[in-house]
Amino acid sequence: MQKKDARTNRRSFLKSSLLLGGLVITQHEPRAQHAPESKEEFSFLAGPYLQTTFANSMTILWVTNREASSWVEYGTSETKLDQKAYGTSELGLKPAGRINRITLERLQPGKTYYYQIVSKELVEFQPYKVTYGPEKRADIEQFTVSDPTKQTVSFLMLNDIHDRPNSIGHLLGLDQEADRDFVFFNGDIFDYQTDEQQLIEHMLTPVTQLFAKHKPFLFVRGNHETRGKFARDIADYFQHIGNSAFTLGPARFVIIDSGEDKEDDHPVYAGIVDFDSYRREQAKWLAEEIQGEAFRRAAFRVVLMHIPPRYSGDAHGATHCTELFEPLFNQGKVDVVLSGHTHRYKIHPPAAGLNNYPIVIGGGPRDGQRTLTRVEMTNQQLNVQLLNDAGEEVGQYTVNRKK
Ligand SMILES: [Fe+2]
Repeated sequence: MQKKDARTNRRSFLKSSLLLGGLVITQHEPRAQHAPESKEEFSFLAGPYLQTTFANSMTILWVTNREASSWVEYGTSETKLDQKAYGTSELGLKPAGRINRITLERLQPGKTYYYQIVSKELVEFQPYKVTYGPEKRADIEQFTVSDPTKQTVSFLMLNDIHDRPNSIGHLLGLDQEADRDFVFFNGDIFDYQTDEQQLIEHMLTPVTQLFAKHKPFLFVRGNHETRGKFARDIADYFQHIGNSAFTLGPARFVIIDSGEDKEDDHPVYAGIVDFDSYRREQAKWLAEEIQGEAFRRAAFRVVLMHIPPRYSGDAHGATHCTELFEPLFNQGKVDVVLSGHTHRYKIHPPAAGLNNYPIVIGGGPRDGQRTLTRVEMTNQQLNVQLLNDAGEEVGQYTVNRKK
């Protein structure tokens, strides 16, 4: 791990402060980072950061340097955190570990909640005697629950950051206008997965300091997140990194994990990947999703996937996505697909007989090629805008409601 570079990057994004969702977030120097095996003081390594698929729930995630029992205390008054939530028990056991993922459910739509994460180190774990260290508490933070029935929705998309964490702050800092519901990371945030320290320094710490204590983000893998020795571990640190679907306001959102870009039997994958089957399973899932009431009834149907379903060359992953997903997107009357992968921002309008919907591709990762994608919608209209890293509009597309 290139520790020095990471530190330099961290300093550069710490220089600015960011306005997101109407909140000015002043950034502080991060807490010292410790290796998991360190005998230093028990501490939080990352978080708290928020993820959600809405529906009046919020998932709070954080990482400690050693194993602990952890929970969230929360409530609608800053001075009265009168509710407590643990992670999901499995086989009767509450979670006890380092990576925490706790979902608060049945929240009140539109309401602001205050929360505090708490971890108590498991100092010694004997069969009949568990010894805890003192409780460690982070500051009280807050978030507002997006009302699932709201009339307008807006979000920001970043893609193809490729291990340049300062790009996250720079690009999000271009948006200072309105309250956003979430930030979407559309893959290739890394070059490949090395270890937890990379994950923390290049994504979890920047997003936590910039916005994610207060605003949720969603993340889908790109082809680069499938690579490297830590690729099989990263799912633990997120609510999900694969395909999913959710409703917010006028839109049904569908997230597809487009997988690798080369054939499964390509020598660089060493025989240990299986993306053809994975994409086929998702196509089966999508075929059901587009028949569902939530999808059919939505004013807008928005697909988020890293490799675009067309226009990214003839590598196997790209053509397999076209073959599997394009007919379903057409059949389901998808309104827009938002992607990355090509590193060249471009808006492809609908093309008769091919994609019946526009495909918006964000750029990156180099300076001058990076983009922030802004999406705003009402019940009648959806607007997509691409800003380059100087904040200039370099693409715009409007979709009017079809029915
Ligand atoms: Fe990519």
